[in-house]
Amino acid sequence: MEYEVRKAEGKLGILIPGLGAVATTLIAGVEAVKKGISQPIGSLTQMGRIRLGKRTEGRHPLIKDFVPLANLEDIVFGGWDVYADNVFEAAMHAKVLEPMLLHAVKPELEALQPMKAVFDKSYAKNLDGTHVKEGAHKMELAEALMEDIRNFKEEHGCDRLVMVWCGSTEKYIEPSAVHQTIEAFEEGLLNNDPAIAPSMIYAYAAVKMGVPFANGAPNLTVDIPAIIELAKEHEIAISGKDFKTGQTLMKTILAPGLHARALGVRGWFSSNILGNRDGYVLDDPDNFKTKEVSKLSVLDEIFKPESNPELYGDMYHKVRINYYPPHGDNKESWDNIDIFGWLGYQMQIKINFLCRDSILAAPLVLDLALFSDLAQRANMSGIQEWLSFYYKSPQTAEGLAPEHDIFKQLMKLQNTLRHMMGEDLITHLGLDYYQELMESL
Ligand SMILES: NC(=O)c1ccc[n+]([C@@H]2O[C@H](COP(=O)([O-])OP(=O)(O)OC[C@H]3O[C@@H](n4cnc5c(N)ncnc54)[C@H](O)[C@@H]3O)[C@@H](O)[C@H]2O)c1
Repeated sequence: MEYEVRKAEGKLGILIPGLGAVATTLIAGVEAVKKGISQPIGSLTQMGRIRLGKRTEGRHPLIKDFVPLANLEDIVFGGWDVYADNVFEAAMHAKVLEPMLLHAVKPELEALQPMKAVFDKSYAKNLDGTHVKEGAHKMELAEALMEDIRNFKEEHGCDRLVMVWCGSTEKYIEPSAVHQTIEAFEEGLLNNDPAIAPSMIYAYAAVKMGVPFANGAPNLTVDIPAIIELAKEHEIAISGKDFKTGQTLMKTILAPGLHARALGVRGWFSSNILGNRDGYVLDDPDNFKTKEVSKLSVLDEIFKPESNPELYGDMYHKVRINYYPPHGDNKESWDNIDIFGWLGYQMQIKINFLCRDSILAAPLVLDLALFSDLAQRANMSGIQEWLSFYYKSPQTAEGLAPEHDIFKQLMKLQNTLRHMMGEDLITHLGLDYYQELMESL
C-alpha cells in the first residue's frame, strides 16, 4: 500500500475530555517547552530518533524531522471536565508540577476553561462535579459535543483536530447488543441506553466530526464494533486503550527479557499505592475492575503459557491498587517476581518503582495526538495497531492477539513510519553486511 502523507499545515487542535492530572501536566509541559524553559523528555515524537537504511549509512534523524508532524508551536488545546476549574487551577490541584513552573505559564493555562462535560455518575461514583451538560437523551448530548467541536475549530482557526480521552476510568462493562452496530448504537443514544458510557458519546461525536480518537483509559470507548464500523465509514483513525506507564511499562520491558532467555516464572505479584484523583476513582471496585482487566492481560500475551506450559503454565499473577492519599500523583509500586532457571532452581526479582504517574503519561498523550494526526493525513483509518507501543491493552482487529512486548511494539511503530515514508523496512537480519564483505574479498 502506498501512503501519500499530507503536510502538517496550519493549527492542530488537541481536544481532551478530562482536564485532570495527566492533561494539565501535558498542557503545562508543552507551554513550558514552547517557552524554552523545559524539555519534552519521554516523548518519542520530540526526542526519539529512527535509523534509516543500513547501519553503515549512519542515518538517524529525529522522528519529527523524518515524518511530517505538527509543530508544538501550532498546537492549540481545548477540553471538557466535570469540574469548572481552569487548567491552571486544575494543575495546582493535581500537585504534579512545581508551582514555580506553573506560574511561568499561568496566563496560557488560565485562558483554558473546560467546556461542560457529558457525564454519568453511575460510571464514576466517586466524582461529584456539576459542570455537566443537560440533554433529553444521549443523542442530544452527542450533538452538543459536536457543536463544541465545530465552535472550537472555528474560534481557534484550526486546520485539523484530534481527541485524546484523559477522563477518569469508567466502571467495568462488557460489550452488549447496543454496541454491536451503528444502528443499534444510535438507537441506544436516542433511548438513553445505560450501557452507552460517556466516553463512547465523546468518541461517537469525534468520529462523526472527522476527528481521530485515542483512548488513554481502560474503558471500552472505541473498542466496540459500532465505533470501529463508524471509524471505517468516516475514514477516521482510532486507537486504545489505557496509557502504558509505571508498573505495566516495567512489566513489558522485563517480561520479554525473561521469555527471551526461556526462564520460567512461577508468580508475579504487583502492588501499587497512589493518592491522586485517578486513585480515588479506582478505589471503587467497579472502576478498579476495568483497570485490573487491562493490567492482567499483559503477561499472558508475552509468556503464552499455553505454548510454554513448563515455564509459565502455573504462573500466579495478581495486581493490587490501593488508594493512599499521602503519595498523591507519586505512585509507588512493588513487584515480587518468582522465577526459575536451569534445572528448576528458584530465584527472585524485586522491583520498587517510585514513579510519577502523570510525568510518565503526559508525553504519551502528546505522541498519540501527533501520531493520530499523522495517521489521518496518511489516510490510515480504523484501528491504528502500530500505536500499541503506548497502550496497556492495545486495540487490534477482531481475532488478532495484541502485541505487548514493548520492543516489538517499537519495531512495529518504526517500521510503520518507514513504510509511510517509502523507506526500507528493517528486519535486523544483518546477513547482507557479511555477504557484501565476502563478495568484495
Ligand atoms: N497517569 C497514568 O500513568 C495513567 C496511566 C494509564 C491510564 N491513565 C488514565 O488516564 C486517565 C486520566 O488520569 P489522571 O491521573 O489525569 O486522572 P484525574 O482524575 O486527575 O483526571 C481525570 C479527569 O477526568 C474528569 N472526567 C471524568 N469523567 C469525565 C467526563 N465524562 N467528561 C469529562 N471529564 C471527565 C475528572 O473530573 C478528572 O478531572 C484515567 O482514566 C487514568 O486511569 C493514567
